[in-house]
Amino acid sequence: MQYPEYRPRRLRRNETLRRMVRETKLSVDDLVYPLFAVAGKGLRKEVPSMPGVFQMSVDHLVKEAREVRKLGIPAVLLFGIPAKKDPLGKDAYSDKGIVQTAVRAIKDAEPDLMVVTDVCFCEYTDHGHCGILRKDGDVDNDATLAILAKSAVSHARAGADIVAPSDMMDGRVGAIRKALDRDGFTGVPIMSYAAKYAGGFYGPFRDAAESTPSFGDRRSYQMDPGNAREALREVALDVREGADIVMVKPALAYLDIICRVRQTFELPVAAYNVSGEYSMVKAGASLGWIDGDRVQMEILAAIKRAGADLVITYAAKDAAMALGG
Ligand code: PBG
Repeated sequence: MQYPEYRPRRLRRNETLRRMVRETKLSVDDLVYPLFAVAGKGLRKEVPSMPGVFQMSVDHLVKEAREVRKLGIPAVLLFGIPAKKDPLGKDAYSDKGIVQTAVRAIKDAEPDLMVVTDVCFCEYTDHGHCGILRKDGDVDNDATLAILAKSAVSHARAGADIVAPSDMMDGRVGAIRKALDRDGFTGVPIMSYAAKYAGGFYGPFRDAAESTPSFGDRRSYQMDPGNAREALREVALDVREGADIVMVKPALAYLDIICRVRQTFELPVAAYNVSGEYSMVKAGASLGWIDGDRVQMEILAAIKRAGADLVITYAAKDAAMALGG
């Protein structure tokens, strides 16, 4: 029998060897943990479709921030669920808004924890769409830009370290950059949800953020799942408008997009391992069909292997613990 020159199994013989030649290693530094802020006090309510994920009032968020920091996770991504929603989503740009209040409290308690704020209107509007509506029910792109910029500036004023627009309006990165610079926040980076796809993976998040649209869907502003080249055009636009970090979302079903964005652009790339991806693993594990912890770590490693520098994930705390945090 002719033996092959190269026998790959030689380097798989034990864990020490495997560790030595492992190409991709997830690090706690790669993780960003999403948090949901609600009005009130003493509230910590688990999201039914997302086991282990809670809506929290500011007092609990501060405790959570301490725990996150202790685990070595560098950043949180903050979402707000206001006490009152209205057609314009006014709470999103109020200095007394839920996110602004939460940012101040978290930064006060944990100044070294990076707080990234999601900039969007779907959690704040009573119709659940990501901006101001025109009479025909479509989102008014350019009218929304002005309030997005206002919202981002109010986040920066409250102490947000990074702002992350997730609305998918055309031109919003440029509008936000201009407004931040005008108000003296030239040092606040923008992490843009650059290639964000419309699809079914955000369902559990919309339970968590109470942001399901009351009519229609988001297909007139979020991307079509069939499109890959368009993602590169979307990212190019955001880079030109001043994005500092570009995001691909969802992550697991869009690894090819992460890979192409990584190969085409030099900026840091973030990937959002979204709610539906998290919940599927939890559901499969609760049925005993898969080993949830193992599969979740494999997914995070795959997202990193595809080219993501940062992974936003609801499993960040579990991952940090598994990584020895
Ligand atoms: C806001 C926003 C959404 C998510 C992040 N920011 C929901 C949406 O677009 O409907 C989804 C995150 C997740 O599913 O985990 N626009």
